[in-house]
Amino acid sequence: MRVPPGVGLVAAALAMACGRRVGPPGADARPAALQGPADSLIPDGPLGTAIRRGRALLLATAESLPAHVGNKLRCVSCHLDGGRRSSGSWVGVFARYPQYRARSATVETLQYRINDCFRRSMNGLPLATDGADMRDIVAYLWFLSRAVPVAPAPMSNRLAKWAALSADTAAGARVYATSCVKCHGAEGEGTAVAPPVWGAHSYNIGAGMARVRTAAAFISDNMPFDQPGTLTDQQAFDVAAYVNLHGRPDFPDKVHDWPNGDAPPDVAYPTEAARHHRSTTR
Ligand code: HEC
Ligand code: HEC
Repeated sequence: MRVPPGVGLVAAALAMACGRRVGPPGADARPAALQGPADSLIPDGPLGTAIRRGRALLLATAESLPAHVGNKLRCVSCHLDGGRRSSGSWVGVFARYPQYRARSATVETLQYRINDCFRRSMNGLPLATDGADMRDIVAYLWFLSRAVPVAPAPMSNRLAKWAALSADTAAGARVYATSCVKCHGAEGEGTAVAPPVWGAHSYNIGAGMARVRTAAAFISDNMPFDQPGTLTDQQAFDVAAYVNLHGRPDFPDKVHDWPNGDAPPDVAYPTEAARHHRSTTR
């Protein structure tokens, strides 16, 4: 069963309303400030049509591109509010590519990076890089990046703080039962209001979200959806480890990731380069 598009709209409205709310006493209530240019700046004419169509593909991904989606997620399941919310924001992304990334050890174009999320986060198949669907998705990301100067991606150490923590998955199970189960389901299978977080219809093992630090950062900023910012760092880390302890689709190409042997420590699978590195340094 898919999340009907209307549910997302209700959820988005709820999130915006929550942004203005004051959190529970003692909680670090973060306003869910939306970033990027106002939709009123979308131009008229064919370019505006492409931008709007690109946004529609990102919001109703499986309905629009069924041959390319292999799970029950949509792009904005993780890039919330059309990619305008802080963790997972697409604002400025057009200006940060091409970019060298260690996972592929190549200079990636924006199209390559988009297809990475199709293959991993969506457990699906890449789009043709020269087709209308890719063109329109890029047009929307270009619009969101309006007025952001073209420059190398800043060195990010946003995941570094998680290195100091060690995960307690039993504590994570308790956080899940208290704060997540009502929307994501007892088996992580998702409900009418939220997508799955593990199992056959979730992101695959090669996805960024399958890394505990990446998931912890996302959860810490954005979940619980109706009370973002209320988990402690330790709770976010524990529940991320608990979620990622469960089975999910495989990504056979994962063995070719980080071919220079520089995979981060929270990557949940061995790569060929890491194996090779171990055997040659022994
Ligand atoms: C399961 C969650 C998830 C889904 C679904 C998802 N993404 Fe992502 N995406 C991520 C994460 C996490 C990152 C950051 C990767 C990292 O930190 O390693 C990312 C990064 C990106 C980036 C690069 C951002 C940057 O600043 O470099 C783009 C572009 C992108 N995603 C597009 C998409 C598109 C298009 C879709 C739908 C086809 C999609 N994503 C679906 C989780 C997701
Ligand atoms: C009030 C309902 C609600 C609660 C509670 C909630 N979530 Fe979510 N969550 C959502 C919705 C809705 C989305 C997708 C947003 C969209 O599609 O616009 C989401 C997305 C996610 C995603 C990325 C997409 C995916 O399914 O992989 C993860 C991971 C996630 N939530 C984890 C958690 C965790 C962990 C908790 C508990 C700490 C939690 N959520 C609590 C509603 C909720």
